[in-house]
Amino acid sequence: MSLPYSEKVIEYFKNPKNVGEIENADAVATEGSPACGDMVKLFLKVDPDTRVIEDIKFKSYGCASNIATASIITELAKKKSIEEAKKINWKQASDALGGLPPVKVHCAVLAVDALKTAIENYEHKRGIVTKKEPTTVKMIRKRLARVINPLTGLDVLKVNFVKEISLNDGKVDILVDLNSDHQFAGNIKEEIKERIEPLWDIDRVEVLFLDQAVKAEKP
Ligand code: FES
Repeated sequence: MSLPYSEKVIEYFKNPKNVGEIENADAVATEGSPACGDMVKLFLKVDPDTRVIEDIKFKSYGCASNIATASIITELAKKKSIEEAKKINWKQASDALGGLPPVKVHCAVLAVDALKTAIENYEHKRGIVTKKEPTTVKMIRKRLARVINPLTGLDVLKVNFVKEISLNDGKVDILVDLNSDHQFAGNIKEEIKERIEPLWDIDRVEVLFLDQAVKAEKP
């Protein structure tokens, strides 16, 4: 059974705007939905003086609604200040697309979450967060709960991939219960770093895999 997509959704799915990556982006965010295993990655370039989003691009590994909503969101956010962009919500994106089938609302939520996280990461990186709370292991775990294992669509905490987290003086070490040659080791490492590195008081994040940890222990 085909879903009742609006003409605009189909048009944006077929010809999405702002697709791709931004080299040396000021902020990056990846959001995945455990419900369907789809992912969207968003890149921002922000003018540091005016805080206006100069460029925004996305890559989607999601369905037609996700591609269409991510596309419309990048159009809504482009040339807006980060304060204005924070107010963009899934309803606005859905309305701009002439509506979404109810079962596809989460696809729009996913795209909006990616925008919100990218802005949050930007603010952390620039040290312009309103509440400068020192990072704790609990906060790190909260961010890790959004790193999805592409194989199962579940987050890395749920599948017990995270064996150890240590936090010392702005340095974070995370031990992952996989070998470094696992097919998704590279993706998982990149995403963990992407989630934790922007935190305002974190200087470096090291992700170690089991085989590397064993080697490091050997004299
Ligand atoms: Fe998962 Fe659309 S993003 S079904």
